[in-house]
Amino acid sequence: MFHPKLFEGRNVIVTGAGRGIGLEVARQFLDCGARVVVHTGRSKDRDFPDFLFLAESERRAFLIAGDFAREDGTRQFVAAASEMFDRVDVLVNNAGTMLGRFPAGELTDEQYRSVVQLNQTSVVEVTRALLPLLKASGQAAIINTVSISALTGGSPGSAIYSASKAFVATYSKALARELAPNGIRVNCVSPGTIVTDFHERYSSKEKLEATRRSIPLQRLGTAEDCAPTYLFLAANNLSGYITGQVIEVNGGQLIC
Ligand SMILES: NC(=O)c1ccc[n+]([C@@H]2O[C@H](COP(=O)([O-])OP(=O)(O)OC[C@H]3O[C@@H](n4cnc5c(N)ncnc54)[C@H](OP(=O)(O)O)[C@@H]3O)[C@@H](O)[C@H]2O)c1
Repeated sequence: MFHPKLFEGRNVIVTGAGRGIGLEVARQFLDCGARVVVHTGRSKDRDFPDFLFLAESERRAFLIAGDFAREDGTRQFVAAASEMFDRVDVLVNNAGTMLGRFPAGELTDEQYRSVVQLNQTSVVEVTRALLPLLKASGQAAIINTVSISALTGGSPGSAIYSASKAFVATYSKALARELAPNGIRVNCVSPGTIVTDFHERYSSKEKLEATRRSIPLQRLGTAEDCAPTYLFLAANNLSGYITGQVIEVNGGQLIC
C-alpha cells in the first residue's frame, strides 16, 4: 500500500464518504497521514466505522453531512468544510447515486432534476465554491467519480444518471486545461461494477452474476479496488504529469 506519510500535512475533502467507495477513499487518505473532511452523505447520525470516530477525536477527520440532491444543498456543506482548512490540497467529488431506475417515458421533472442536481450540478457547485482554497494549495488535485456508464450509456432506466456522469467527465477535462496555470490537476476515476450499497438498490442478483461472468477478470469490483487510484491521482509525486484523464477501474469490463 502507499507510504503512511504520503499525505502528511495535506488537507483532503471527500464527498459521499459515509459508505462505499468514498468511505474506503477517506480511510486510505487517513492511513496516509492526511487531514480529511468526510462528507458523510445526507446524515451524520448513522453508524460509521470506529476508525472515523477515532480520527475525528484526533482532529484528523471532520464529519460533515449535507443533502446534495436538494437545490442549494451544497452551500452549507462547503461553508462548514471551509471552516476546517485554510487551503485544500485534494478534493474528491464522489457523492452520487442513480436515485432509481426511471424509464425514459415515465421520468418526472422532479426525478430528472434530482438526478442532475446530485450527480452533476453538485460537482460544479462544490468545485466552484472551493476554488479559492484549492488555488491556495499551489499543487492541488481534483478527482471526480464518474462511471463506466458515462461511456456505455448504462442499462435501462439509468439514462439521466449515465449522461450526468458523462457531463462530469467532460467538465473535468475542460477544468484540467483551465486550472493548470493554478497548479490544479483534474482527473476522474470511472468505476465499473463495484459491490457497494449502490447495486443492492439498483441491480438484481441475476443481473450482477451475468455482469460478473462478462468481466475478463471474472469478478465484480470492490471499494478497495477503486481507492488506490484516487490516492495515486491525488499524489503530485506519483501522478504530477497526469491531468484531464479518466481512469477506468473495471476488471476489463470495458476495453476501448
Ligand atoms: N458501485 C458502483 O458500481 C459504481 C459504479 C460507477 C460509479 N459509481 C459512483 O461511485 C460513487 C460512489 O458510489 P458507491 O458505489 O460507493 O455508492 P454508495 O455506497 O451508495 O455511496 C454513495 C455515497 O454518496 C452519498 N449520497 C447519495 N445521495 C446523496 C445525496 N442526496 N446527498 C449527499 N450525498 C449523497 C451517499 O450518502 P447517503 O448515505 O446519504 O446515501 C454515500 O455516501 C457515486 O458517485 C456513484 O455514482 C458507483
